[in-house]
Amino acid sequence: MITKVKHICCIGAGYVGGPTMAVFADRCPDIQFYVVDHNKDRVDGWNSEDLSKLPIYEPGLKELVEKCRGKNLHFSTEVENYIPLSDMIFISVNTPTKNKGIGAGLASDLKWIEMSARQIAKYARSHTIVVEKSTLPVRTAELINTILQSNDSVNKNSNYKSFTVLSNPEFLSEGSAINDLLNPDRVLIGGNDEKSINELVAIYSNWVKKEKILKTNLWSSELSKLTANAFLAQRISSINSISGLCESTGADIKEVSLAVGTDSRIGDKFLNAGPGFGGSCFKKDILNLIYICEYYGLHEVAAYWRVVIDLNTWQQKRISNKIVEKLFGTISGKKIAIFGFSFKANTNDTRESPAINICKDLMEEGAELQIYDPRVNSEQIQKELDYPIKDLDNYYLGAGGWIYSENIYNSFIDADAAVFLTEWEEFRNINWKRVSELMRKPSWIFDTRFILDLNEAKDLGFNIWRVGLG
Ligand code: UDX
Ligand code: ADP
Repeated sequence: MITKVKHICCIGAGYVGGPTMAVFADRCPDIQFYVVDHNKDRVDGWNSEDLSKLPIYEPGLKELVEKCRGKNLHFSTEVENYIPLSDMIFISVNTPTKNKGIGAGLASDLKWIEMSARQIAKYARSHTIVVEKSTLPVRTAELINTILQSNDSVNKNSNYKSFTVLSNPEFLSEGSAINDLLNPDRVLIGGNDEKSINELVAIYSNWVKKEKILKTNLWSSELSKLTANAFLAQRISSINSISGLCESTGADIKEVSLAVGTDSRIGDKFLNAGPGFGGSCFKKDILNLIYICEYYGLHEVAAYWRVVIDLNTWQQKRISNKIVEKLFGTISGKKIAIFGFSFKANTNDTRESPAINICKDLMEEGAELQIYDPRVNSEQIQKELDYPIKDLDNYYLGAGGWIYSENIYNSFIDADAAVFLTEWEEFRNINWKRVSELMRKPSWIFDTRFILDLNEAKDLGFNIWRVGLG
């Protein structure tokens, strides 16, 4: 299929926009891609000579940026210059949960979506296909459409400008985003205008088989995204609920997951027990689902999905309580080494990371945390914890606080407990003999992801707790 589209703009150079456009640029060398963002620091990061300074860490991303940047992939703050140039515009802006006003705590804040729609309405020059990529509440396309249609007009140069809106939700999973984009299970395109849909199909056809491209109406596309995320999150809450039961009964969650997941009707993915799901999508999408269910009077349905989030909160709390309980009921003034702060491995994203609540709980109890993460810097941790970094000159024991650790082994020094919160590969190769000389005794290891081989550690006399095993 040949597309007429030659210039594509993407508003938002974040975790979705950046990797998505890098893959598009790699697969569609005849199209120019402009990724625009009003955050200058972020754009500077994307344009950085030093590719280790890209604002987002994602395996395989820097190689694609190196290959395409300056050729058919461009990063800029000049939103107003690239919108008029483009035949197709993706909206990949942030849509966090509202923290005040109507729908606070449930509905998404659509102010950045609305701002993008207004920018497109203002600067577009001819017929433009607008594609919603961000995760959005159902019927957001209607909002975008209303703003755009009220600006359909003949512009100063007497060109007629008009718009069609498509929904093309992203299903990429951070940490494997490039692979997910290159080899998607499916591409979903929702819309009413066959011609515009076909333009987008033609772009994806450069690397995705036609059978994998699903076409639906706008609302089905938007609702499918929320439903897919809700189902995935539900599986995690389900397995985490069973992890608690395993610890009480002597069953082993790994064995249970394997036995359950080998039923082909259930499948083996997303059955890893852990400290609860994080990331920018799962909680937000379920909250959106709850909000629309309440709006349409489907209170039982809303209550059903609410429990998936409650269970996630319970799992995090359960883990912090377990740490206190095992350390003789008090952690005031004790050093605890934290391994991993991102919400999952292979990303520097910390949004909704279970590490946030668990670390806050431990500091509330007076613990001194030594936090190590291979990809998350101390500024980012500080932003999420909103808790002062320990000031060694002005500090009294038991006040609770944290310091950043640049090195795995430094984190263990004098610690009573080591808590593993993210499944980074490098944690699997820890030398427990060396660690046994660094920690205070009795030493505890809490493996909240059940990823470590702890046979040697057991022989060395460490006390061990693992999620779903005890
Ligand atoms: C998710 C969806 O997978 C993706 O399709 C959507 O587009 C965006 O939201 P993401 O949040 O990036 O992607 O990561 P995902 O791999 O889904 O993990 C989400 C959370 O669940 C992480 O905190 C992860 O550690 C946790 N998880 C995942 C588990 O605890 N157990 C599992 O078995 C799988
Ligand atoms: P996501 O995970 O959905 O990609 P991010 O927060 O990582 O979310 O990225 C969204 C990006 O969108 C941010 O860098 C933000 O600055 C940018 N953004 C939001 N609204 C606009 C706008 N109206 N114009 C340009 N950039 C925008």
